[in-house]
Amino acid sequence: MGIQFDAATSTFTLQTARTTYRMRVDERGRLLHMYYGRRIGRGDLRELYPPADHGFSPDYYPCRRRRGVSPDVLPQEYTGCNVGDFRLSCLVVRDGMTGAAGADFLYDSHEITPGKYTLEGLPCAHDEDSEAETLCIRMKDPVTGLVLVLLYGVFARQDVITRAVRLENAGTAPLRLEKAASACLDLPFGDWDLVHFHGRHAMERKMERTPLPHAITTVSSTRGASSHHHNPFVILCDHTATEDHGLCYGVMPVYSGSHRTDIEVDQNGLTRLVTGLHDERFSWQLEPGESFTAPEVLLCCTPDGLGDLSRHYHTFLRRNICRSPFRYARRPVLINNWEATYFDFNTESICRIAEKAASLGVEMMVLDDGWFGKRDDDNTGLGDWFVNEKKLPGGLQPLIERVNALGMKFGLWVEPEMVSEDSDLYRAHPDWALTLPGRTPAMGRNQLVLDMGRPEVVDYLTQRLSTLLRENHIEYIKWDMNRNMSDVYSRALPPERQGETTHRYMLGVYKLLDRLTTAFPHVLFEGCAGGGGRFDAGMLCYFPQIWCSDNTDAIERLSIQHGTSFGYPVSCMGAHVSACPNHQTGRTVPLWTRAVVAMSGTFGYELDLGRLTDEECDQVRDQIKTFQRYYDVIQNGAYYRLSDPDRQPRYVAWQTVTPTESLVSLVLTHPEANARPLHLCLKGLEEDALYKVDELNVYGVTATPESGDNPASQVGAVCSGSMLMYAGYILPHLIGDAPSVQLHLTRLP
Ligand code: DGJ
Repeated sequence: MGIQFDAATSTFTLQTARTTYRMRVDERGRLLHMYYGRRIGRGDLRELYPPADHGFSPDYYPCRRRRGVSPDVLPQEYTGCNVGDFRLSCLVVRDGMTGAAGADFLYDSHEITPGKYTLEGLPCAHDEDSEAETLCIRMKDPVTGLVLVLLYGVFARQDVITRAVRLENAGTAPLRLEKAASACLDLPFGDWDLVHFHGRHAMERKMERTPLPHAITTVSSTRGASSHHHNPFVILCDHTATEDHGLCYGVMPVYSGSHRTDIEVDQNGLTRLVTGLHDERFSWQLEPGESFTAPEVLLCCTPDGLGDLSRHYHTFLRRNICRSPFRYARRPVLINNWEATYFDFNTESICRIAEKAASLGVEMMVLDDGWFGKRDDDNTGLGDWFVNEKKLPGGLQPLIERVNALGMKFGLWVEPEMVSEDSDLYRAHPDWALTLPGRTPAMGRNQLVLDMGRPEVVDYLTQRLSTLLRENHIEYIKWDMNRNMSDVYSRALPPERQGETTHRYMLGVYKLLDRLTTAFPHVLFEGCAGGGGRFDAGMLCYFPQIWCSDNTDAIERLSIQHGTSFGYPVSCMGAHVSACPNHQTGRTVPLWTRAVVAMSGTFGYELDLGRLTDEECDQVRDQIKTFQRYYDVIQNGAYYRLSDPDRQPRYVAWQTVTPTESLVSLVLTHPEANARPLHLCLKGLEEDALYKVDELNVYGVTATPESGDNPASQVGAVCSGSMLMYAGYILPHLIGDAPSVQLHLTRLP
């Protein structure tokens, strides 16, 4: 396992537990990608790529007579620019003196070192258990002097390979990057499906699986955020792959801004994926001696299906991406006042919510939007991060003390990257906002985006937020971001650097987050961008949890959380029980079912608990106890999807498993007359172990089928893992609107 270099054949092999990644420096000095897939042994992979002359595919100059050796046909590790490969390109670079766009990289040197490389200014994986090795390959374009540094971090046990790219101008003329991808992945053989996660505000990360056409397919965002619309995480899987079988490749950028992944199936059936920063309106000026780093990408490959791929990412994100001390810590059950009060609150009404919540077992009170500036609706005040004393007389601290006296922690909402036109900050620094000269800007939620690429903006926010955190006993921050970036123009950059604005914005955000999370490690940060508009591995470096969606309807959440689970673990999915009829859909779902769904995330409440009946309050008490009791298996268990909404539209079911227990949750979304038995085959158990099965709660109307006994008579049964997985289990008969059930399995010693 690890990284090997065979000097005789100039071959690099990155060996992980179950996969092999191989590249080779060819006779001409180009770095060819030879293979990535399930683990392979010895053999000369060169034979897979015999010389062949393809019309209209140009040859390398030395091969012009012999023909058949074309950059347009061979699998490349990272492409050059404008030198004969007509497929997707990783790079567009222009010589600042001649205007010529061109680069052709030749191998220069390499280094293999223990540990994991880091990237200056960018979030990236860390080597938590000192298990990683780094391969650094230097390639050089002899004409421009541009150096391409390919970085590989190999986490052998976890089957994860990280990649990043640094471009250094070692020449004498200025260069201009117009595209600089993070990675290229050529799969020379195979027929692949693309799995991606699309959506919109309040309906994020809907999973879609589609066969790749002989064309270019793009998953991208130009919004300055990873976006509600196209999550940057994509999967390529074999046409026949299922949850449990089949070759799957995951590609997860560690980046939160505009991104682009293109996938092309070429003339010979080779599939090329190129991923990285979006290149629309992007450029980066590279003076001699300067360098540019493209964000990291996490690659994972497994022969064992989509479920196994997800579990690899879940483990890796928690262990090697999240840096927060809270990533494994038990996090408090919270109540957030947003859907209870919106902007209409004061110290007394918040204390009333907190008192009721404390009496039911809630552990933290979070004060959402509206506590600062002149913020009585969403038109004003962003930027003025000073307490509104009309609502909160004496400031935050008296409120916090009352909340703390109830035995609860206190958390606060902020949206630091934004500014309202009607704010003191904007009046003092109109040039800090992104707006185009001579044009009125497009407004999102009537607010503007701060130019986070300006160091003085980042310094100001560092100082303001640090003061807020130092002067008040705040133990949680919800970091929101409620519009996408248009009118991108920085008043601080010269004309030739305007194309850098969007990426500089992200670098500024990362700097601010790095400073604050380092200075206040005891504060639990939750990310948010109008719900899940920035749900990505970049943000997870700073936030151990992210608010999944502004859609709190439990039934819609099933689909959102299902899609999210392909890449991201339960422990990072912010999920709350809210009021019914639901504020977004008007639907009514049983309180217990709302809790079952929210329990598959970080779990909290977001409603006026004062309006609940006594019986509902008892349910809330029980829900919190249930969550706390099964916290370990919910948050730390291996996650299995037991249903596919496209194939089993009747219900959604999922399961988490630790070595000692398992929790199965099912929500019936479409009850039917004369219903077929609800039969589930469980997953992830030990075949020969015995499990005691308890039906924890049946949250909805249960009816006994007229024909005889309720098949739920297996309750309390002791069953082998093999029986539960291969013969299955019959759940209780459920009827009514959105009933649900949870099963708890205890592994017997
Ligand atoms: C969007 C968030 O997703 C909501 O939860 C809430 O915090 C609002 N913003 C507040 O403006």
